[in-house]
Amino acid sequence: MTDRFVAAIDQGTTSSRCIIFNQDGAIVAVDQREHRQIFPRPGWVEHDPAEIWATVRAVVAQALDTAGLRADQLSALGITNQRETTVLWDRATGEPVHNAIVWQDTRTAALCAELGGADGQDRFREATGLPLASYFSGPKAAWLLDQVPGLRDRAERGEIAFGTIDSWLIWNLTGGPEGGVHVTDVTNASRTMLMNLRTLEWDTEILAAMRVPEAVLPEIRSSAEIYGTAVGGLAGVPVASALGDQQAAIFGQACFDPGTAKNTYGTGSFLLLNTGDRPVPSKSGLITTVGYKIGDESPVYCLEGSIAVTGALVQWFRDQLGIIGSAAEIETLAASVTDNGGAYVVPAFSGLYAPYWRADARGVITGLTRYVTKAHLARAVLEATSWQTREVVDAMYEDSGVRITTLKVDGGMTANGLLMQHQADVLGVPVIRPKVSETTCLGAAYAAGLATGVWSGTEELKAHWQREVEWVPRMEAETREREYGNWLKAVERSFGWEE
Ligand code: G3P
Repeated sequence: MTDRFVAAIDQGTTSSRCIIFNQDGAIVAVDQREHRQIFPRPGWVEHDPAEIWATVRAVVAQALDTAGLRADQLSALGITNQRETTVLWDRATGEPVHNAIVWQDTRTAALCAELGGADGQDRFREATGLPLASYFSGPKAAWLLDQVPGLRDRAERGEIAFGTIDSWLIWNLTGGPEGGVHVTDVTNASRTMLMNLRTLEWDTEILAAMRVPEAVLPEIRSSAEIYGTAVGGLAGVPVASALGDQQAAIFGQACFDPGTAKNTYGTGSFLLLNTGDRPVPSKSGLITTVGYKIGDESPVYCLEGSIAVTGALVQWFRDQLGIIGSAAEIETLAASVTDNGGAYVVPAFSGLYAPYWRADARGVITGLTRYVTKAHLARAVLEATSWQTREVVDAMYEDSGVRITTLKVDGGMTANGLLMQHQADVLGVPVIRPKVSETTCLGAAYAAGLATGVWSGTEELKAHWQREVEWVPRMEAETREREYGNWLKAVERSFGWEE
């Protein structure tokens, strides 16, 4: 039997990568390139969509070259992407009308407060599973339609397309202005705040409230089906999956059964729990989101704890404070002391997401005495990730009654053993990393492979999953709860800051 290959593109917040997998789900080739982060004002974060498209083409070409494969040897191409980041472009020329507004951007906080009106943050929660927060795409699109001169008229005339990054890439891959397919998948659409979670269709009432014309919207499709055929360097390859990156990761971790969960540690961290074929509303500050939908099958829903800043705090510690020279150095520095010296860092750089959803939160460092050194701060920076994860695990239990007994983890920060040990310690459950920790690309490849018959079903995929490392909890319960109490006090201090 000749081997079959599936390529996945992961267009993330800081970089784009392409991984080619073989039929065993093993990695054959990888390429990755960073793109610029544009910070025009405090709280604003933008990307150049043309640069993103160029880096995507480059990583695909390089990965094929490294693998020694031609495009026509790929059975399918899958897409996974940073979610919520919003692009509007001209359908005739393919030119973006503005930089993409990135998910972390807080410019729509005032607009969200206005939209909430007397109903407050939960005005659209029942329909969409989401609180009104600057994180989601709909208000970002509304902001652009209001702020870019003449755009609303052009949008109403059908000249403008809206998309999250999946739509932008699929449209370009399948021909752009010459016949590009304008679609999105249910997982990405569930982050716009414009889709009804149950019908999986655009919600006309919300569109009217946000003043987003239907003419700009892509068609909502499943996460695993052939949307179209690529042109250009990938000519002839079926574009056969799209999933938001966190949903792709839960798919790649083979969390197909209700009650299974994973946490991905990237720029931010996103803990998703599979709740099966019905959406579970949250009362504890989580969000309800679509996990995936394979072709005509029923959708699978998740509860999600979204943490905006985890890996990005390490980058800030390196780039803005210059205390370390590389992200990897933080582990050595943190390991030179045995505890945090009493210090806590709350990285509320985009306000705080789950479980607080506070636009008025700003970063704070608490517990400082003259005793505290940069090594204690390095430890506190890492611990911020595990404490924030503890908060969402507690919220998950309150909402679902499911007590996580082990946590599957993936993403760049899982290379940091000290952090993973602390994570196991503060959750009091084992933390497990799989052999293929590139779960985001793997999930997109799996979905594309299911759509094209490379794999038969999720049972076959489950058999690929293998554990690589397990961290078991070692901290005394008393220490854990005392330190968690300090963390919660530090969080309180981050609230109530003016613009
Ligand atoms: O919701 C935002 C998330 O999709 C971003 O993921 O890995 O690009 O930081 P990442």
